[in-house]
Amino acid sequence: MKAGVQQALEELKRVKLDEPICSYIYDLAGIQAQVREMLQTMPVNTRLFYAIKANPDPRIIEALLPWVKGFEVASIGELLKVRAVSRDVPILFGGPGKKESELKQALEQDVSYIHVESVLELRRIIAIAKERIVTRDEHMKQSERNDDREPEEQVQQQRRQAGREAGELAVKLADEQVSAQSGKRTGEQEDDTEYCAHKMVLEHPEQTWEVAGHRGDVPEVRVLLRINLRSSALPQTKIVMGGSPSPFGMDEEDLEEAIELLRVEGAGVIRLCGFHFHSLSNNMDAGLHAEMIELYLQKVEQWQQRYHVQVDIVNAGGGFGVTYDGSPGFDWPLFTKLLEQSESRKRLAARGGELFFESGRLLVAEHGYYAAEVTDIKRSHGEWFAIVRGGTHHQRLPASWGHNHPFQIVYTEQWQHAFSRPEVKQGRVHIAGELCTPKDRLHSDAEVERLRVGDIVVFVKSGAYSWTISHHDFLGHPHPAFHYLTEEDEHVNANSVFQSASR
Ligand SMILES: Cc1ncc(COP(=O)(O)O)c(C=O)c1O
Repeated sequence: MKAGVQQALEELKRVKLDEPICSYIYDLAGIQAQVREMLQTMPVNTRLFYAIKANPDPRIIEALLPWVKGFEVASIGELLKVRAVSRDVPILFGGPGKKESELKQALEQDVSYIHVESVLELRRIIAIAKERIVTRDEHMKQSERNDDREPEEQVQQQRRQAGREAGELAVKLADEQVSAQSGKRTGEQEDDTEYCAHKMVLEHPEQTWEVAGHRGDVPEVRVLLRINLRSSALPQTKIVMGGSPSPFGMDEEDLEEAIELLRVEGAGVIRLCGFHFHSLSNNMDAGLHAEMIELYLQKVEQWQQRYHVQVDIVNAGGGFGVTYDGSPGFDWPLFTKLLEQSESRKRLAARGGELFFESGRLLVAEHGYYAAEVTDIKRSHGEWFAIVRGGTHHQRLPASWGHNHPFQIVYTEQWQHAFSRPEVKQGRVHIAGELCTPKDRLHSDAEVERLRVGDIVVFVKSGAYSWTISHHDFLGHPHPAFHYLTEEDEHVNANSVFQSASR
């Protein structure tokens, strides 16, 4: 366990009130350091996004903001969490079964790309995109009528509006300069279409209200078609979304219909920018993962030739694995080396195309700790059970995957009672939670040197799909506390260790 986390736990023990400890600790500094390192080996035309479903904690989104290209979201709830942290960071909007209201809201919130999951969804997006043009035209007609009636008033109004927008823009540009000076998100932003408007304003300040104004064009809706490839060559993992029948994406056989629809119905309002794949999660084999990406890129090249489409983006999803049993994890340096050598990636780069990854688990899993104090130890039919303050309603991953979650014990010496302190010594113990269900088991048959009531069991690798996927309110126990570890100037900033957020 990292020294800073150990230190945070010591502090938790020191300030502990009457209630047993039950806390998540997120090592934000660890997440940032890992992502910085990952970026160093990524080939030129590859971009890293964070899939916030792994852990949508606002502090994590904020910590990743300077380092990732953007965020992948799968609902309006997730989208708004990202927008609460940044008004303009690129967002990829995916997920099956998107409702019309969600698609409209996503466009209002200026998502960069929508991942299209079915032909019907594509029809819905086209209809919404056309509706936006009609609304824009009506708006413009109305404002022309107003222009005819009251030219003086209109000029005054436009001037007022221009002044307001120039002010807002100045604030935004100042923000961008600050982040450029602190080395955050520079360079990368410049080639982004999202930022083109700002660049024009910088070059031609006199055009401010025409370029950034409300009467500007409705931009084309940019989409990536999510394809579920029919291939037996895809790696097999615990969680598979593609390569076999699934509710995700569309079959390759539907591609022709989708592209025809885009050409005929979608012309001028919607733009096909590329393709999206996410076939599996928790893949541990870097070589097989690189082969899978190769297959994606080759398929895309075939489709480019067959359908004469331009491809700017290939989004190869997430799925980089994390081990929970001590076996070797995903070899990122090997994966990026293989990517570097990939001829199809080089061809994509030569055509000006970018390869996206939207990783969740790999970025955050290792940096979350779930600390739960032992509240009881007893023998049942010859086997030892330790009950902790907490359980699968806070950390459901072990129940969901049926695994024993790795943990470490932090020993505490305080015992203020007159009666004896129960313990297991050099034995096996099941670690169970406080829920009235036998499913509330975090680890079975754990071999321990010593475990006593009052010690803290710290479940490591609890940063991804842990709190987020849990049934927090089942049985109505209090939620855990949340603490964050930040780092400045290469050492742990003790002041921010205990900035707790209530949930
Ligand atoms: C579409 C999509 N992208 C990315 C991810 C993130 O996957 P992982 O956490 O395995 O990297 C998921 C996870 O389910 C997903 O469904």
